[in-house]
Amino acid sequence: MTATDTRTAGAARALFRERFGTEATGTWSAPGRVNLIGEHTDYNDGFVLPFAIQHRTHVALAPRADHRIRVATGFPGAAESDAAPVEAGLAELHALFPARRDEIPEWARYPLGVAWALLEAAAIDPGSVAGVDLAFASDVPVGAGLSSSAAIEAATAVALAETWGVDLDRAALARVGRRAENEAVGAPTGIMDQMASLRGRADAAIFLDCRSLEAQVVDLGFAAAGLELVVIDTGVKHSHATGGYGERRAACERGAAALGVPALRDVTPDDLPRLAQLVDDVTFRRVRHVVTEDQRVLDTVRTLREQGPTAIGDLLVASHASMRDDFEISVPELDTAVDAALSAGAVGARMTGGGFGGAAIALVARDRVDAVRDAATAAFAASGFAAPTIFTVTPSAGAARD
Ligand code: GLA
Repeated sequence: MTATDTRTAGAARALFRERFGTEATGTWSAPGRVNLIGEHTDYNDGFVLPFAIQHRTHVALAPRADHRIRVATGFPGAAESDAAPVEAGLAELHALFPARRDEIPEWARYPLGVAWALLEAAAIDPGSVAGVDLAFASDVPVGAGLSSSAAIEAATAVALAETWGVDLDRAALARVGRRAENEAVGAPTGIMDQMASLRGRADAAIFLDCRSLEAQVVDLGFAAAGLELVVIDTGVKHSHATGGYGERRAACERGAAALGVPALRDVTPDDLPRLAQLVDDVTFRRVRHVVTEDQRVLDTVRTLREQGPTAIGDLLVASHASMRDDFEISVPELDTAVDAALSAGAVGARMTGGGFGGAAIALVARDRVDAVRDAATAAFAASGFAAPTIFTVTPSAGAARD
């Protein structure tokens, strides 16, 4: 573990001791992610290319003698940080989710939702497994579009699976996390973030086919090429449980239905002229983003393999333009971050994640990182935006026992 991991795992153990009055028996952790390219393609059965980052959520756990679950957190974003742990009987979870999820504080829906979905996925009788106490600590930035939620889900999933002796593979655990997010939290998201957090590898991205869940490891080679991946967190908060994300998803489903295919994965650029005759302009542009973005993921994977990371810049820039103009999920702060990074010499830049806020990423030569940082900071100030938070990320390993 890195020094930061040791510290955050220690914080989870300390919180466990403070809230539950005993020692945890183990800690597990899972990373946040950056998506290099492939946005809003996952729920269309398409392709994505995310990588896990060095920021992780750690969970300290101990089994209980009964069949109850208690969860405690101290990390930012949880309004209840000083409140008592949230508690439920394992056998009650199926009545809470999804129907009565509003009774649970929002952050606690993630770990309790994973417990519920895992029990169901593995067909476990809640009376046959030990209850658990869980305490979380994290250094994944919350609300930055770096999947702090998937990090909680994946950490909880691997911790509970091991504790309960559940033999499910990583793709099945990712589905458990997605179900928690969809039904316990109420955000209609895809499978990318959970797969990235569970399957991440050092120095590599995960090329994921979201229909088959087949995952290939793709070497990134940023360090060897003298590149850094810079995150520019705009500080603009977003929620995928409300509004725009679900509307985009609905538009994609309309497009697929108009063409008579199960998902937009089955649509090629050659089908677009026909689609233009069948749907309104907004739906057409939503579909065009997804169809061209799938192609950009395939092109990025090929380019990385054949030419290396310095050659993918134009694909990143085209992806951003498609999200800004066709999918309309960017915000002025994200556009400003991308433009500033490119004008300061970034190889490529784009918003990452679901949009409506969060972070942009820029692929930058090591000796241009300070120039990109300065340019983004100055551009935000000139536009009257609050200062962005800027840092570099490293492709890192996925969820595991610490
Ligand atoms: C969010 C969702 C993912 C994916 C992205 C957009 O991160 O959780 O499933 O849809 O948005 O690519």
